[in-house]
Amino acid sequence: MKTYTTIVKEAKDYDELSKHAAEHVINVVNKKPEATICIAGGDTPKGMINNLVQAKKEGAVDFSQCQFIGLDEWVGLGENDPGSCQHFLYHHLFKPLEIEREQIHVFDARSEELNEECTKMNQLLDSLGGLDIVVLGIGVNGHVGFNEPETGADWKAHVIRLDEKTLQVGQKYFDSSITPPKFGITLGMKQLLHSKEVVVIASGEKKLSAVQQLLYGEVSMEHPASILRYHPSLRVLVDQHSFVKTL
Ligand code: GLP
Repeated sequence: MKTYTTIVKEAKDYDELSKHAAEHVINVVNKKPEATICIAGGDTPKGMINNLVQAKKEGAVDFSQCQFIGLDEWVGLGENDPGSCQHFLYHHLFKPLEIEREQIHVFDARSEELNEECTKMNQLLDSLGGLDIVVLGIGVNGHVGFNEPETGADWKAHVIRLDEKTLQVGQKYFDSSITPPKFGITLGMKQLLHSKEVVVIASGEKKLSAVQQLLYGEVSMEHPASILRYHPSLRVLVDQHSFVKTL
Protein backbone atom coordinates (compact mmCIF):
# COMPACT_ATOMS: atom_id res chain seq x y z
CA MET A 1 0.00 0.00 0.00
CA LYS A 2 1.15 3.51 -0.82
CA THR A 3 1.93 6.03 1.91
CA TYR A 4 1.28 9.73 1.37
CA THR A 5 2.87 12.95 2.56
CA THR A 6 1.20 13.96 5.78
CA ILE A 7 -0.02 17.49 6.25
CA VAL A 8 1.35 18.68 9.59
CA LYS A 9 0.11 21.89 11.11
CA GLU A 10 2.01 23.22 14.08
CA ALA A 11 0.01 25.50 16.35
CA LYS A 12 1.67 27.85 18.79
CA ASP A 13 -0.28 26.39 21.69
CA TYR A 14 -3.16 24.14 22.69
CA ASP A 15 -5.78 26.87 22.15
CA GLU A 16 -4.69 27.46 18.58
CA LEU A 17 -4.55 23.72 17.91
CA SER A 18 -8.07 23.34 19.26
CA LYS A 19 -9.31 26.16 17.06
CA HIS A 20 -7.77 24.63 13.93
CA ALA A 21 -9.20 21.21 14.71
CA ALA A 22 -12.67 22.68 15.24
CA GLU A 23 -12.42 24.52 11.91
CA HIS A 24 -11.93 21.20 10.12
CA VAL A 25 -15.03 19.71 11.66
CA ILE A 26 -17.07 22.85 10.97
CA ASN A 27 -15.95 22.94 7.31
CA VAL A 28 -16.98 19.34 6.81
CA VAL A 29 -20.42 19.95 8.35
CA ASN A 30 -20.96 23.18 6.46
CA LYS A 31 -20.21 21.37 3.19
CA LYS A 32 -22.23 18.29 4.13
CA PRO A 33 -24.85 18.97 6.84
CA GLU A 34 -25.66 15.25 7.16
CA ALA A 35 -22.00 14.33 7.75
CA THR A 36 -21.03 11.27 9.77
CA ILE A 37 -18.63 12.38 12.47
CA CYS A 38 -16.45 10.54 14.95
CA ILE A 39 -14.65 12.41 17.71
CA ALA A 40 -12.35 10.71 20.20
CA GLY A 41 -12.85 11.08 23.91
CA GLY A 42 -9.90 11.84 26.16
CA ASP A 43 -8.22 15.05 27.25
CA THR A 44 -6.89 16.31 23.93
CA PRO A 45 -10.20 17.03 22.14
CA LYS A 46 -11.66 19.08 25.01
CA GLY A 47 -10.51 22.44 23.62
CA MET A 48 -11.71 21.57 20.13
CA ILE A 49 -15.08 20.53 21.49
CA ASN A 50 -15.40 23.83 23.39
CA ASN A 51 -14.82 25.61 20.09
CA LEU A 52 -17.51 23.50 18.42
CA VAL A 53 -19.98 24.33 21.18
CA GLN A 54 -19.16 28.02 20.84
CA ALA A 55 -19.55 27.89 17.05
CA LYS A 56 -22.94 26.24 17.45
CA LYS A 57 -24.04 28.98 19.88
CA GLU A 58 -22.96 31.62 17.39
CA GLY A 59 -24.89 29.90 14.61
CA ALA A 60 -21.71 29.21 12.62
CA VAL A 61 -22.50 25.51 12.33
CA ASP A 62 -25.55 23.27 12.54
CA PHE A 63 -25.11 19.67 13.70
CA SER A 64 -28.81 18.81 13.67
CA GLN A 65 -28.56 16.54 10.63
CA CYS A 66 -25.22 14.91 11.50
CA GLN A 67 -24.68 11.37 12.69
CA PHE A 68 -22.20 10.83 15.53
CA ILE A 69 -20.30 7.57 15.83
CA GLY A 70 -18.56 6.50 19.05
CA LEU A 71 -14.91 5.65 18.49
CA ASP A 72 -14.24 3.38 21.44
CA GLU A 73 -15.25 2.39 24.96
CA TRP A 74 -13.96 0.60 27.99
CA VAL A 75 -15.69 -2.78 28.15
CA GLY A 76 -18.26 -2.86 30.94
CA LEU A 77 -18.77 0.91 31.09
CA GLY A 78 -21.54 3.13 29.75
CA GLU A 79 -22.54 6.78 29.65
CA ASN A 80 -23.32 6.93 33.37
CA ASP A 81 -19.85 5.79 34.41
CA PRO A 82 -17.44 8.65 35.05
CA GLY A 83 -14.23 8.00 33.13
CA SER A 84 -15.96 6.25 30.25
CA CYS A 85 -15.65 7.63 26.73
CA GLN A 86 -19.43 8.01 26.50
CA HIS A 87 -19.65 9.86 29.79
CA PHE A 88 -17.15 12.31 28.38
CA LEU A 89 -18.88 12.65 25.02
CA TYR A 90 -22.38 13.10 26.44
CA HIS A 91 -21.20 15.66 28.95
CA HIS A 92 -18.87 17.73 26.75
CA LEU A 93 -20.20 17.20 23.24
CA PHE A 94 -23.65 15.69 22.77
CA LYS A 95 -25.55 17.57 25.47
CA PRO A 96 -24.04 21.03 24.82
CA LEU A 97 -24.58 20.57 21.08
CA GLU A 98 -28.16 19.34 21.70
CA ILE A 99 -27.56 16.18 19.68
CA GLU A 100 -30.61 13.91 19.65
CA ARG A 101 -30.36 10.26 20.72
CA GLU A 102 -31.21 9.13 17.18
CA GLN A 103 -28.09 10.89 15.93
CA ILE A 104 -25.78 9.09 18.37
CA HIS A 105 -24.42 5.62 17.59
CA VAL A 106 -22.09 4.20 20.21
CA PHE A 107 -21.02 0.73 21.27
CA ASP A 108 -22.97 -0.73 24.15
CA ALA A 109 -19.86 -1.87 25.99
CA ARG A 110 -22.02 -3.26 28.81
CA SER A 111 -23.63 -5.77 26.49
CA GLU A 112 -23.10 -9.51 26.97
CA GLU A 113 -22.90 -9.75 23.18
CA LEU A 114 -19.95 -7.57 22.29
CA ASN A 115 -19.35 -9.29 18.97
CA GLU A 116 -22.88 -8.38 18.01
CA GLU A 117 -22.13 -4.78 18.97
CA CYS A 118 -19.19 -4.87 16.58
CA THR A 119 -21.29 -6.36 13.79
CA LYS A 120 -24.00 -3.72 14.30
CA MET A 121 -21.42 -0.93 14.16
CA ASN A 122 -19.80 -2.38 11.04
CA GLN A 123 -23.16 -2.63 9.31
CA LEU A 124 -24.14 0.88 10.31
CA LEU A 125 -20.89 2.36 9.03
CA ASP A 126 -21.21 0.43 5.78
CA SER A 127 -24.76 1.71 5.33
CA LEU A 128 -23.65 5.28 5.96
CA GLY A 129 -20.79 4.94 3.49
CA GLY A 130 -18.15 5.31 6.21
CA LEU A 131 -17.11 8.31 8.25
CA ASP A 132 -16.84 11.78 6.75
CA ILE A 133 -14.40 12.93 9.40
CA VAL A 134 -12.69 11.36 12.37
CA VAL A 135 -10.76 13.39 14.92
CA LEU A 136 -8.36 11.19 16.83
CA GLY A 137 -6.13 11.63 19.83
CA ILE A 138 -3.01 9.50 20.06
CA GLY A 139 -1.92 7.30 22.93
CA VAL A 140 1.67 7.46 24.18
CA ASN A 141 2.03 3.91 22.81
CA GLY A 142 0.74 5.06 19.40
CA HIS A 143 -2.78 3.71 19.76
CA VAL A 144 -5.68 5.45 18.08
CA GLY A 145 -9.08 4.66 19.53
CA PHE A 146 -8.31 1.34 21.19
CA ASN A 147 -6.34 0.03 18.21
CA GLU A 148 -3.46 -1.28 20.22
CA PRO A 149 0.06 -2.15 19.06
CA GLU A 150 0.36 -5.52 17.28
CA THR A 151 -3.33 -5.71 16.30
CA GLY A 152 -4.64 -5.85 12.73
CA ALA A 153 -4.36 -2.95 10.29
CA ASP A 154 -7.34 -4.34 8.34
CA TRP A 155 -9.60 -4.94 11.32
CA LYS A 156 -13.02 -3.38 11.62
CA ALA A 157 -14.79 -2.98 14.98
CA HIS A 158 -13.38 -5.35 17.58
CA VAL A 159 -12.89 -6.12 21.24
CA ILE A 160 -9.31 -6.01 22.45
CA ARG A 161 -7.30 -6.74 25.56
CA LEU A 162 -5.75 -3.39 26.39
CA ASP A 163 -2.04 -2.76 26.41
CA GLU A 164 -0.34 -2.28 29.81
CA LYS A 165 0.59 1.29 28.84
CA THR A 166 -3.03 2.06 27.96
CA LEU A 167 -4.20 0.83 31.36
CA GLN A 168 -1.50 2.74 33.18
CA VAL A 169 -2.15 6.04 31.36
CA GLY A 170 -5.93 5.41 31.31
CA GLN A 171 -6.01 5.58 35.10
CA LYS A 172 -6.07 9.39 34.67
CA TYR A 173 -9.71 9.20 33.54
CA PHE A 174 -10.80 7.36 36.69
CA ASP A 175 -10.96 7.93 40.39
CA SER A 176 -7.91 6.33 42.05
CA SER A 177 -10.19 3.77 43.73
CA ILE A 178 -11.29 2.45 40.32
CA THR A 179 -9.12 0.18 38.18
CA PRO A 180 -9.69 0.72 34.44
CA PRO A 181 -11.31 -2.23 32.63
CA LYS A 182 -8.83 -4.58 30.95
CA PHE A 183 -10.68 -4.72 27.63
CA GLY A 184 -11.79 -2.14 25.12
CA ILE A 185 -14.16 -2.08 22.14
CA THR A 186 -13.21 0.11 19.22
CA LEU A 187 -13.66 0.97 15.57
CA GLY A 188 -10.85 -0.71 13.65
CA MET A 189 -7.99 0.80 11.65
CA LYS A 190 -9.76 -0.16 8.44
CA GLN A 191 -12.71 2.09 9.29
CA LEU A 192 -10.45 4.95 10.38
CA LEU A 193 -8.47 4.69 7.13
CA HIS A 194 -11.69 4.75 5.11
CA SER A 195 -12.84 7.99 6.72
CA LYS A 196 -12.92 10.78 4.12
CA GLU A 197 -10.97 13.03 6.48
CA VAL A 198 -8.64 11.96 9.25
CA VAL A 199 -7.35 14.51 11.76
CA VAL A 200 -4.98 13.54 14.56
CA ILE A 201 -4.49 16.02 17.37
CA ALA A 202 -1.65 15.92 19.88
CA SER A 203 -0.56 18.30 22.57
CA GLY A 204 2.23 18.38 25.12
CA GLU A 205 5.66 16.87 25.49
CA LYS A 206 4.28 13.52 26.61
CA LYS A 207 3.05 12.97 23.04
CA LEU A 208 6.35 13.94 21.35
CA SER A 209 7.65 10.43 20.81
CA ALA A 210 4.26 9.11 19.62
CA VAL A 211 3.95 11.99 17.13
CA GLN A 212 7.51 11.46 15.81
CA GLN A 213 6.74 7.76 15.30
CA LEU A 214 3.48 8.59 13.58
CA LEU A 215 5.14 11.02 11.18
CA TYR A 216 8.61 9.59 10.64
CA GLY A 217 8.71 6.05 12.03
CA GLU A 218 8.19 2.79 10.21
CA VAL A 219 4.60 2.26 9.06
CA SER A 220 3.59 -0.72 11.13
CA MET A 221 1.06 -1.87 13.67
CA GLU A 222 3.80 -1.70 16.29
CA HIS A 223 2.75 1.93 16.24
CA PRO A 224 -0.89 1.89 15.07
CA ALA A 225 -1.14 5.62 14.33
CA SER A 226 1.60 5.26 11.67
CA ILE A 227 -0.84 3.19 9.59
CA LEU A 228 -2.80 6.41 9.04
CA ARG A 229 -0.03 7.47 6.65
CA TYR A 230 -1.80 5.24 4.13
CA HIS A 231 -4.56 7.84 4.17
CA PRO A 232 -4.24 10.27 1.24
CA SER A 233 -5.07 13.37 3.28
CA LEU A 234 -4.09 12.67 6.87
CA ARG A 235 -3.77 15.88 8.88
CA VAL A 236 -1.79 15.98 12.06
CA LEU A 237 -2.34 19.00 14.26
CA VAL A 238 0.30 19.49 16.92
CA ASP A 239 1.48 22.13 19.34
CA GLN A 240 5.11 23.14 19.79
CA HIS A 241 5.65 20.69 22.65
CA SER A 242 4.45 17.59 20.84
CA PHE A 243 6.44 18.03 17.65
CA VAL A 244 10.00 18.42 16.37
CA LYS A 245 10.32 18.85 12.65
CA THR A 246 12.59 16.21 11.06
CA LEU A 247 13.85 16.90 7.55
C1 GLP B 1 -7.37 6.94 25.07
C2 GLP B 1 -8.51 6.67 24.09
C3 GLP B 1 -8.26 7.32 22.76
C4 GLP B 1 -7.66 8.68 23.01
C5 GLP B 1 -6.23 8.48 23.47
C6 GLP B 1 -5.50 9.75 23.88
O1 GLP B 1 -7.02 5.79 25.77
N1 GLP B 1 -8.80 5.29 23.88
O2 GLP B 1 -9.46 7.40 22.02
O3 GLP B 1 -7.68 9.45 21.84
O4 GLP B 1 -6.17 7.49 24.50
O5 GLP B 1 -6.09 10.32 25.01
P1 GLP B 1 -5.74 11.75 25.60
O6 GLP B 1 -6.25 12.74 24.64
O7 GLP B 1 -6.45 11.79 26.94
O8 GLP B 1 -4.26 11.80 25.74
